[in-house]
Amino acid sequence: MDTLRWQAGTLFLLDQTKLPFEEIYLPCHSWQDVRQAISVLAVRGAPAIGVAAAYAVVLAARSLCQKGGDTPFLTALEAICQDLDAARPTAVNLHWALTQMMVCARQHEADGAEAVTAVLEEKAIAIHEADVAINTAMARFGADELEKLGRPLTLLTHCNAGALATAGVGTALGVIRELHRRGLVSMVYADETRPLLQGARLTAFELMADHIPVTLITDNMAAWTLKTKGVDAIIVGADRIAANGDTANKIGTYGLSLMARELAVPLYIAAPVSTFDLSITDGSQIPIEERNHDEVRSSFRGVAAALPETPVFNPAFDVTPHENIRAIVTEKGIIHRPDAVSVPVFFQH
Ligand code: MRU
Repeated sequence: MDTLRWQAGTLFLLDQTKLPFEEIYLPCHSWQDVRQAISVLAVRGAPAIGVAAAYAVVLAARSLCQKGGDTPFLTALEAICQDLDAARPTAVNLHWALTQMMVCARQHEADGAEAVTAVLEEKAIAIHEADVAINTAMARFGADELEKLGRPLTLLTHCNAGALATAGVGTALGVIRELHRRGLVSMVYADETRPLLQGARLTAFELMADHIPVTLITDNMAAWTLKTKGVDAIIVGADRIAANGDTANKIGTYGLSLMARELAVPLYIAAPVSTFDLSITDGSQIPIEERNHDEVRSSFRGVAAALPETPVFNPAFDVTPHENIRAIVTEKGIIHRPDAVSVPVFFQH
C-alpha cells in the first residue's frame, strides 16, 4: 500500500481521512487538488506532505504551460508555491520541498517553461525516491541506537510517524520496524492522538498489518502506561526542529516529554535532515498550526461531542524543549543530547 503514487502525470494519494476502514486513492489532477488534500490531512506527516507538494509544483507548472498568461512563468509558479506552503505551516518539509523545486526551476529557466516542467517532474520523482532511502537509513541508525538499551523493548509512540507519513518505512515507525525485524520489540503502545486519531486510525493499523505487537491507549493513559508497563523508550517523529534541538511534533508530544522526564524514560525523535530548520535558533520561533475548532468539538468522523458554540483551542503541534530529548535519529546519524552546540556541530560534517 503506497502513501502516494505518481502515475501518468497524476498524483494518487491514499486518502488517510478514510483509513483504516476504506483504502481509497484520491486522484489529484491539479495543484489545487493536492493543496486541498494536504489541508484536510488526506495526505499528512511532514515527509509525505513534502513529496506531495513537489508533485503539486509539477502539476502547477504543467497547467501554467497550457494556459500561458501575462504573468511570467516563474513568478506565477512562485506564487503557487507560497500558497502551497501556507497549507501546513508547522511541517518544514513542505517548505523544504517547495524550495528545492523552485531552485531547480530557476536553474533551468533559460530553457523555457516546457523544459522546466519536464525537469521539475524528474526532481519530484527524485525527492520521492530519496525519501524511501532516507527512511531506510534512519531505521538502521535508530535501531542500532535503541538496541543498546539491551533487551526486547517496550516502546511508546504518538501520532503516526510511519509509512503513511512518508514515502518509505516511516521515521519513528521505521525504527520500530527495524527493531522488530531484529526480534527486539516486545510491545508498542500507541497513543490514539486526539483530535484526529492518527494513532488509532493509522499507527495501530500499520503495526497490526506488519504483525508488530501494538496496544492502543487513549492519550490520557500515557503517564500511567509509562509508570506501570515498563516502557523502555518513547520514539516519535517531528515536523520542525530548531537549531538548538527544540522539536515541534504532534500536539501531546510536549506533555509526553514531561512525563518521560519525571519517570526517567528516554525520549527519541526520528526525523530526516529536511525536518531541521537551522534558520531558527529555538522552538519559540516555530509557527504552530491552529486548526478548525470542529475537530475538537467532534469525535471520529464528525460526530458531535460538544455543543457547536463551545469555545475551543486547537493547536495541531507543540514544541518539546531539547533538554527533554535523549537523541535525534537522522539518516546521517544520531545527535545525542541535542542542544545549541551539538546540532550545529552535527551539520558541519
Ligand atoms: O498532523 P499530522 O498528522 O500531519 O502530524 C504528523 C506528525 O506530527 C508526525 O509525528 C510528524 O509529521 C512526523 S511524520 C514522519
